[in-house]
Amino acid sequence: MVDEAHGLMGADVASDEEGQLEVSLRPRRLATYIGQAKLKAELQVYIEAAKGREEALDHVLLYGPPGLGKTTLAMVIANEMGVGIKTTSGPAIEKPGDLVALLNELQPGDVLFIDEIHRLPKVVEEMLYSAMEDFYIDIVVGEGPTAHPVHFPLPPFTLVGATTRVGLLTAPLRDRFGIIERLNYYTPAELGQIINRSAAIFQTAIDPAGAKALAWRSRGTPRIANRLLKRVRDFAQVAGKATIDEASVDQALTLLDVDQRGLDATDRKMLLTMINYYGGGPVGVKTIAANIGEEAATIEEVYEPYLLQIGFISRTPRGRLVTPAAYEHLGIAFPNEGD
Ligand SMILES: Nc1ncnc2c1ncn2[C@@H]1O[C@H](COP(=O)(O)OP(=O)(O)OP(=O)(O)O)[C@@H](O)[C@H]1O
Ligand SMILES: [Mg+2]
Repeated sequence: MVDEAHGLMGADVASDEEGQLEVSLRPRRLATYIGQAKLKAELQVYIEAAKGREEALDHVLLYGPPGLGKTTLAMVIANEMGVGIKTTSGPAIEKPGDLVALLNELQPGDVLFIDEIHRLPKVVEEMLYSAMEDFYIDIVVGEGPTAHPVHFPLPPFTLVGATTRVGLLTAPLRDRFGIIERLNYYTPAELGQIINRSAAIFQTAIDPAGAKALAWRSRGTPRIANRLLKRVRDFAQVAGKATIDEASVDQALTLLDVDQRGLDATDRKMLLTMINYYGGGPVGVKTIAANIGEEAATIEEVYEPYLLQIGFISRTPRGRLVTPAAYEHLGIAFPNEGD
């Protein structure tokens, strides 16, 4: 098999240099898409079945924290189905006409990928309902007395929607997706595989201990693993090291202020604020946000999910609590009851 990672990609939202590198790092097939085993096994079946029936794949909604591979998976789906893909995002489709233009370009079976689908304008979303369900749209042509509705049939297509905020999707939209999948954080072992694959693409040598150390510090997130790998590679190169080892990882990530569990300055600021000013909680997200100067939405989408995942905070009806594991990690004594 040709190493598909070196192949050129089609349409993509990435534009800057960092984006271009990301494109070359993207796996293009399910077989090279690392991790998310359950999701891949399910998709494999749905894709094979749809191909067998010569139908478009049912609409797919992918959700989960940033950088876990939603966009990548949308492209993998199109590749596996052997169809084209058009890529756009919720905020980019400002008016119904924009959606009509996109739908009009689709070939039968194509994938329409809408990133940040929770940010679709209401009028566009409503138009999408009939497009998704029965493959037609009704548009009004002309203005004033000459205005008349036109019934516009569409080729069967697959809408792949991605969002970091599935809770913000309306029920009618969510219900029109036949396949709804959550992407989970990757295990250190899976991240290790991703790091080795990326290092090979960069033609950079990394030893097993170096890959393992980096995997543990990548917040369960492939995008972060790849980003940190690039920075560590820079440090190793300037230090004149041919192979990235654990010491290079340590040195680079200490300078980048990323600790042993992958927490960055903002994570630690958040935990320390909760501990020092709120006795470890419970404390509300908005209060935390105001204290550390971040948006509440960013805390909920980016910081909190990982801290919850590794058991450093827990959720209660009255707000978030810092767990004993987090106190231990930060080297702070856990207050005993009654203190
Ligand atoms: N399963 C995977 N195997 C290997 N690499 C992966 C995998 N998933 C993601 N990546 C890498 O991580 C990068 C980020 O993935 P991607 O852009 O698909 O994330 P995303 O979930 O769409 O993020 P966002 O929510 O910010 O849009 C990709 O460029 C790719 O190199
Ligand atoms: Mg994306």
